Amino acid sequence: VAGAGSPRHHDAGRPQEDALSDDVTREATRRRTFAVISHPDAGKSTLTEALALHAHAIAQAGAVHGKGSRRGVVSDWNEMEQARGISITSAALQFRVQDVVINLLDTPGHADFSEDTYRVLSAVDCAVMLLDAAKGLEPQTLKLFEACRARATPVITVINKWDRPGQEPLALLDEISDRLGIQPTPLNWPVGIAGDFRGVTDVETGGMTEFTRTPGGATIAARESLTAAEAAERHGVDWERATEEFELLAASGQTHDQAEFLAARTTPVLFAAAVQNFGVAELLEAVIELAPPPSAWTDTKQQPRPVEAPFSGFIFKVQTGMDPAHRDRMAFMRVCSGRFERGAVLTQARTGRPFQTKYAQSVFGRERETIDEAYPGDVVGLTNAQALQVGDTLYDSRAVTFPGLPRFAPEHFAVFRPRDTGRAKQFRRGIELLDQEGVVQVLVSDRRGVQAPVLAAVGPMQFEVAAHRLEHEFGAPASQDRLAYGVASRVTPEAAPVVDRERGAEVLERTDGVVVALFADTWRMHAIAGRLPSGSLPPIFAVD
Ligand code: G4P
Repeated sequence: VAGAGSPRHHDAGRPQEDALSDDVTREATRRRTFAVISHPDAGKSTLTEALALHAHAIAQAGAVHGKGSRRGVVSDWNEMEQARGISITSAALQFRVQDVVINLLDTPGHADFSEDTYRVLSAVDCAVMLLDAAKGLEPQTLKLFEACRARATPVITVINKWDRPGQEPLALLDEISDRLGIQPTPLNWPVGIAGDFRGVTDVETGGMTEFTRTPGGATIAARESLTAAEAAERHGVDWERATEEFELLAASGQTHDQAEFLAARTTPVLFAAAVQNFGVAELLEAVIELAPPPSAWTDTKQQPRPVEAPFSGFIFKVQTGMDPAHRDRMAFMRVCSGRFERGAVLTQARTGRPFQTKYAQSVFGRERETIDEAYPGDVVGLTNAQALQVGDTLYDSRAVTFPGLPRFAPEHFAVFRPRDTGRAKQFRRGIELLDQEGVVQVLVSDRRGVQAPVLAAVGPMQFEVAAHRLEHEFGAPASQDRLAYGVASRVTPEAAPVVDRERGAEVLERTDGVVVALFADTWRMHAIAGRLPSGSLPPIFAVD
């Protein structure tokens, strides 16, 4: 019987199951799971702190993310990371606002880029796109936005640093619609130009929310609600200008429509100065009111797995060496359906083997806490997860397999070779594990041989992580030679030998069997494609 769970529970367990599924539905409905996407320096760490502060999750701003002298709890999982002062881990910060449970997934905020960042986006229901008011859209904002678009993830836009001179708000909205092809629908409008931020219009009351900087910095900004008359009196031309511009946008139809937002065709826009905590409460309200709660996940058979179905979860990230003392391996799982209970023995869909969840934790930075139960939208860190791979599904009583994670088109390529030929076996084992973890993609060809695989990455720092781990974890120091390729595509079996003979191109096989063609640059790829039957070089983005 569809939806009845395992036959064992069929009769006697029925009322209990119903109660559990009601409980799960209620818990799922009050959850919001999102990540912030931004170019480095747009203010993601500052905003994260401010959000948590508003939610009283931490006593004092500065305790979540560490930069410079600020005390931080964001992981420094190995020396390399410490030396560079960057955070390579992604984890989840959970906090409550009124009755809503917010899961804020951290995306690595480094100038370089890796597939990890993309993977985190596969585990969220919504994204907050954070822009610097002076800089507008930047390269990484565009890349991350594309990853959201590929999954039709709804995006809320926040224009940050409004306390500093920046671009005109209308110009920023034009940039969003022209370059991203998504309609921006402001939820409020800034009063005072960038650099002289007084507050925002309040659509509900027709008045204004005035911001006042509180002394001490790390406190919640004082917000005062003004009527339209009070706003006009206090802010004169700034208020007039704000209301005129906002009305103009409304007249041209740029107003929020929930269905359009959920379909990822429009993006609500807010203005903020995270460093002064201005606009942060408004963002929290938008996340709570507009961001979708967890909903059914689609399995490999295109069937939806409703949130109230028996437990299922999927692994979106695997991290080794977070605790140097223990060489542990932690898998991050998003709960997709049902209630997760620590200690349950789950089934791993790929292998059919049991998986013991005695060591389940919530992880944010260095803080770890044991998690006893979790609901759809929550993130659970599973230690001792040697058997788990990125893209794996775990389930409890009713079998399900979710589609694996898309692999992204790599743009950087390097040949790795063992420095010490006596360590060839360790080298091969290391490469195999890095591949399984998804640290890099591994490409091989008969011509190059197994001792000289081509590692492919979205960002070059992935090579450094791979080299570091080969040496320190697998005892197989490796040399790396960068290849002069910058673009990859898939290639049909007919076209593969032709492409392989071309100058500035090469064909290899990825370990998952996908045949990949590498080209010096897009110009070269197009030139070669022009001589092949159309459709010979399908794009690589989101292939599996
Ligand atoms: P990131 O995680 O996106 O990389 O950005 P982060 O929060 O670290 O912010 C980058 C810089 O921008 C920081 O300055 C931060 O203080 C500043 N910033 C963030 N939000 C705002 C804002 O609303 N207004 C203004 N004016 N600045 C903002 P920094 O000098 O690099 O670091 P710090 O010494 O202030 O910590």
